[in-house]
Amino acid sequence: MNILFAASEVAPFAKTGGLADVAGSLPSALASLGHDVRVVLPRYRQVDPAQFNLKHRATFHLPISTWYERCDILEGSTADGITVYFVNKDSYYDRPGIYGTSRGDYPDNAERFAFFSRSLLELCRVMDFSPDIIHCNDWQTGLVPLYLKTQYAAQAPLDRTKTVFTVHNLGYQGRFPPETMHRLGLGPEALSPEGMEFGGAFSFLTAGLAYADVITTVSKRYSEEIQRSEYACGLEGILAQRAGSLFGILNGIDSRAWDPANDGAISRHYSAVEPAGKEACKDALQKLAGFSADSGPLIGMVTRLSEQKGLELLVDAVPAIMKLGVRLIILGTGEKKYHRILTDLHSRYPEQIQVMFRFDESTARAIYAGSDLFLMPSRYEPCGLSQIIALRYGAVPIVRKTGGLADTVIDYDRQAGKGTGFVFDEYSSGALVVAVKRALAIKSDQSRWKSLLLQCMTKDFSWEHSAREYDRLYHDVVTPSQNDRREASMAGKDKGGERKAS
Ligand code: GLC
Repeated sequence: MNILFAASEVAPFAKTGGLADVAGSLPSALASLGHDVRVVLPRYRQVDPAQFNLKHRATFHLPISTWYERCDILEGSTADGITVYFVNKDSYYDRPGIYGTSRGDYPDNAERFAFFSRSLLELCRVMDFSPDIIHCNDWQTGLVPLYLKTQYAAQAPLDRTKTVFTVHNLGYQGRFPPETMHRLGLGPEALSPEGMEFGGAFSFLTAGLAYADVITTVSKRYSEEIQRSEYACGLEGILAQRAGSLFGILNGIDSRAWDPANDGAISRHYSAVEPAGKEACKDALQKLAGFSADSGPLIGMVTRLSEQKGLELLVDAVPAIMKLGVRLIILGTGEKKYHRILTDLHSRYPEQIQVMFRFDESTARAIYAGSDLFLMPSRYEPCGLSQIIALRYGAVPIVRKTGGLADTVIDYDRQAGKGTGFVFDEYSSGALVVAVKRALAIKSDQSRWKSLLLQCMTKDFSWEHSAREYDRLYHDVVTPSQNDRREASMAGKDKGGERKAS
């Protein structure tokens, strides 16, 4: 099959979060199943054409607002040889940030991502690339299914193209005032398609949810959670209408890129079979954090500093956790409020808490490798990749039972000696502290701990399994159902063309 994978961030070119990791690794796994997969993202300032050897491939003009804008397509490829198209439009993307700066989002994000969405459809036309599937991701590509169905569906090469829309986080919706929508060429019929009433809540995300052929989320549990108002972020109505087309497929990780037996950024290599090197990594991490060379438990966190990630719980639990004698090392940036609170906590517990307000991958790797435990007390978590990496690096996860955390970490059962982490359910600092205590009790029992580490490190969350699930879903989407076929032949519309096999 021909698949165009559209995302606003793709590692290693541009990354602010897990979406980039998924977009940077899932396409290769799909390609190894025999698909022709191409990826498309904007050419931000940080993507240096010379460094990535980008070549000019096409130029066209696109309507935006009431005028036309020139758009260039550059082409490069990933290390695995996947073709990557970059939408080059300096006035939109040649800026310091991807979505905004520390002062906030760019005020023209609606135009920026509407332009991106349209340009990737136009790109197919101009380059005569006929995708069976356009796989869209998050609100930045939510208008793709809408533009496709309303403006491009009747034209080759997009007349048979279907869309899959993956929600990586329902909390980010791309909401803009209705006037903006009209400026993007979206009339009232687009804003409230047949049977779907958004009221004032139209957003790029709701467009994706309404118009995509199928919707997926990044874990099964999150796909169920978002159908309850507690997790639906106000979108329970449309999610209920689309429930029959909503699926959960767990993210994977690139197990070659995340491998403690072969990681250039960590102090000593180790593996499930030969775990000894992890001690050296812990020593190195303690040094990096400015902690004494102690054998006491070390808890790591690599996280966005936001409410979603359970920062509130952590802050409330800190005094009780500190009494247990653990040390805590946090890497991440985010809301100013948490920068302030965590700075205060560091000054209160300088020997026990270290916070690094930045994101860099080599420090992240040092934390996965050097930590005994890895904390993710998220309020909600669509999938979460950090706990999956932590498992592989033998940093035993302590997680809240939500979304992908619940789907990837098995709570340790003391009796059976089975499990891969410590899971708590109630969203409260008390429940978090209990989970930390349970973890420390097992940590102090060497043979149990060894067996727990082995169970963690041998869990397989590589992409193979999930890529096959996407593959099945793509086939179901492009294969017309019995009903559709009957209708098409009755109407004499069946073009009789065989769909190209993948
Ligand atoms: C978002 C979600 C996270 C998920 C990632 C990749 O960042 O918050 O849970 O793992 O997308 O799908």
